Amino acid sequence: MKKSILLMACCLGLFVEGALAQIAPKEEFVSALMERMTLEEKIGQLAQCSYRGNFTGPGGANYSKEDYVREGKIGSMLNVVGVKEIRRFQELALQSRLGIPLIFGLDVIHGYHTGFPIPLAEAASFDLGMIEEAAVCNARESAADGLNWVFAPMADISWDARWGRVMEGAGEDPYYGALVAAARIRGLQGESLADTATVMACLKHFAGYGAPIAGKEYNSVDMSLGQFANFYMPPYKAAVQAGVATVMSAFNDFNNIPCTANDFLLNRLLREQWGFQGFVVSDYNSVEELVNHRYAADKKDAAAKALQAGLDVEMVSTCYLTYLKELIEEGRVKEDVLDKAVRRILEKKYELGLFEDPFRYCNPGRAARVLNAPDIRDASLRMAERSIVLLENKAGVLPLSSKIKSVALIGGLNRSPHDMAGAWAPTTDRSKIITPYDALTRRGLTVNYAEGYNLKTNALDGLEAAMEAARKSDVVIVAIGERASQSGEKAAKVDINLPAGQQQLIAELKKTGKPVIALLMCGRPLIFNDVRRQADAILCTWWLGSEAGNAICNVLWGDYNPSGKLPMTFPAHVGQVPIYYQYKSTGRPATLRQAYVSSYIDSPNEPAYPFGYGLSYTTFEYSGLKVEQGRKAGEHAVVSVDVRNAGKVAGEEVVQLYVQDKVASITRPVKELKGFRKLYLKPGESQTVTFSLTDECLGFYDNNMHYVVEPGDFILMAGKSSRQEDLLQTVFTLE
Ligand code: BGC
Repeated sequence: MKKSILLMACCLGLFVEGALAQIAPKEEFVSALMERMTLEEKIGQLAQCSYRGNFTGPGGANYSKEDYVREGKIGSMLNVVGVKEIRRFQELALQSRLGIPLIFGLDVIHGYHTGFPIPLAEAASFDLGMIEEAAVCNARESAADGLNWVFAPMADISWDARWGRVMEGAGEDPYYGALVAAARIRGLQGESLADTATVMACLKHFAGYGAPIAGKEYNSVDMSLGQFANFYMPPYKAAVQAGVATVMSAFNDFNNIPCTANDFLLNRLLREQWGFQGFVVSDYNSVEELVNHRYAADKKDAAAKALQAGLDVEMVSTCYLTYLKELIEEGRVKEDVLDKAVRRILEKKYELGLFEDPFRYCNPGRAARVLNAPDIRDASLRMAERSIVLLENKAGVLPLSSKIKSVALIGGLNRSPHDMAGAWAPTTDRSKIITPYDALTRRGLTVNYAEGYNLKTNALDGLEAAMEAARKSDVVIVAIGERASQSGEKAAKVDINLPAGQQQLIAELKKTGKPVIALLMCGRPLIFNDVRRQADAILCTWWLGSEAGNAICNVLWGDYNPSGKLPMTFPAHVGQVPIYYQYKSTGRPATLRQAYVSSYIDSPNEPAYPFGYGLSYTTFEYSGLKVEQGRKAGEHAVVSVDVRNAGKVAGEEVVQLYVQDKVASITRPVKELKGFRKLYLKPGESQTVTFSLTDECLGFYDNNMHYVVEPGDFILMAGKSSRQEDLLQTVFTLE
C-alpha cells in the first residue's frame, strides 16, 4: 500500500476502519480535496516551473524549485528529465501539507529517446496509421521515463515556409491537418490516461500561431474569423473532438487580443462551443508577456486578465503566484474562477492515477526496457521510409542498381547525427542515430566521403576533395539543405533559398558525368531551382531521426519504394510566400492569361512543387472518375475513381480527392482536399477507390462562423497531386 494513498486518504477522511477505502469518484474526490485547500495551495496548482535546460525564452523567477515544490506552491513542472529526477521532485511534492502530486511535462515533439521524423516529415507519409503508431511509441518512451504529459501535437496550419516552426506541424492543409492532429492525440493518449504507457497530449498553439505576419516568429496574427474558421481552426477543433487532455495558448494575438488572455478563444470557443473539459496552459512566460503586448499594465493586471479569460496554468512566469491572492482578496478576481481552474487541473491528476500512486511513471526497470526497444526502432524506420518524398528522378536513375559498388558521399550533413535528429529533439539519444554514412558503410559499399562545403558558412571550400571522390565513384550522393537548428522555434528566415555554395557544388559535381543524387535535408520547404535542373534525382529527406540513414539507403536502393507526398507547397521564389494550393480565384484569376491579372511580372505563379506532389519508382494511372448524382444535403453520395499501377514495381499511391464549390455566398478556394487513400498496388494491379461525399466535404463556415452547406454545383477532382494537370474532374450537383 503506497504511503501517498494513505496520506491522501487520511487527509480526505477516506480511511475507514483500519482499511483504505477505494479512492472516491473523481468529482467527489476533487471536491473533498479542494475543501481542504488554502487559497495559496489552490494558486500553487496553477503554477508551472521549468527545471533546467530547454529554455525557450526570457523569464523564469529565481527561486528554489525544490523549496517551492515542498511548500505546495507548484502544481506541475517542465524540463525535468529522467525517472530519478522526476521521482525526487515528486517526493518533495508529497512532503507538502496536502501531498498533491505534480504533473511532469516535456516537449516530446518527434520521439523521446528514439528519434522519429520531424512532424512535417511524418505528415508527408499521408499514412495516418503509421503517424498514430509513431505517437504511441513516443508516449511509451516518455511515460517509461517518468513523464505524464507531452507538449504535442502542434496543430498550427501554415502557408509560410519562412516561419521556422512549420517543421513541427502537418503542413498547410486544414482537412489533413485535422486528421493528423487527431491521430497523434489518439496515439499519445490511448484509450485511457490511467494507462501508464500513455501521456496527456497538449494541443498547441491555440490559436492561429502558424500565421505570423511575414513569417516572423512570435509576430502578430491578423485574419478574419471566416478565414480562421475555414483554414486554421479545423485541426484545433478535431483535436478537442479527439479528447485532447490539455491545450496550450499561443504567443500571438488573435483578433487584437493576445491568445493568453483571449476570452473568445479559451472560454467561448474552446469550452462553451466545443465542450473542452481539460485545462489550458500558457506558453512559455506568456502570461507575463501580456505586459509587452501592452495588453496588461503590469504583471498583476496580466494575472487578472489571463485567469479570467480561461487560462489555467501559468508556464514559467509567476504572475499568478505573486498576485492572484491579492487580486482575489481585493475582489478583482472571483475565487470561483480560480476554483474552476484548480478543479480542471486536479481532475487530470486524478485521471492520470497520480493520487493512487504518484510514482506510477517512475520505474527505472521499465525505462530500461522501453527506451530504444527494438519495436520502437522498427517503427521509427518504417515512419522514416514513409516520410521521404521523391521530387525528381530523371531517366529513372533511382533506384540505384545493385551493381553500384562505390559511392561518393558528399556533404557534412550525411555524417551528422545531431542534424539527423532534427530540431526540437532535446532527449533523442544522439549516440544511437544511424546517419547515411553509417548505413552506406554497413551495406558493404566503398564510401568515398568528402564534405564539399563548410557546414557553418556554406563556403565551397572542399570542392577539390569532393570532385576527386566523385571521379572515383559510380554514383554521387550529396546532402544539401539547412542545418537542423535552422528550423524550429526562433528560426524564422527571410531567405529560404538553398545557399549558393551548395547549388554550385551540384553544378560542379555534375561535370564529372556521374549520376548526381541530391538528398534535401530540411525542416521546411526550401528553394533550389538550379539543383532541380541539374541533379539527376532529388529526395526530400527532411530530418528523419534515429533510423534516418537506413531509411534513406532503403529508398535509394529500392528496398522501399518512396510514397511520400508534400504536405506543404514548395515555392519557386521566396516572393511567392505565403503560397498554398487552396487559394481563391480573385476577380482577375491568372487563368485568364492576359495582362492585369493576379500574377507576378518576374515569376510564374506556380510553385516548384505543389501540395500533394511526390513521385514513386512506378507510375499510377487514373481513370473513370464518377459520382452518384441526385443527393440532398445530409445524405451521402459516392465518388469513385480507378487507379492502376502502370509500372514494373509494386508501390503505394496517395489518391487525393479535391472539391471546388463553384458558386457560394462567400468566396471559396479553387480547390480543397476532402479525402485521400493510400493504396498499395502490385505491377498491373488496379483498384477502384471510393469516397463518401458528406456535408463536411461540401460546406464551409460563413463569416459568423456558422457551418453551412449550400446547394449548387461542385467540381470534384481526383488524382495524384493538387496540380490541375494531375487531376481528373467531374461535376456534382447538390439539390
Ligand atoms: C514553445 C512551446 C513549448 C514551450 C515549452 C515554447 O517556447 O512555443 O511549443 O511547448 O516553449 O518548452
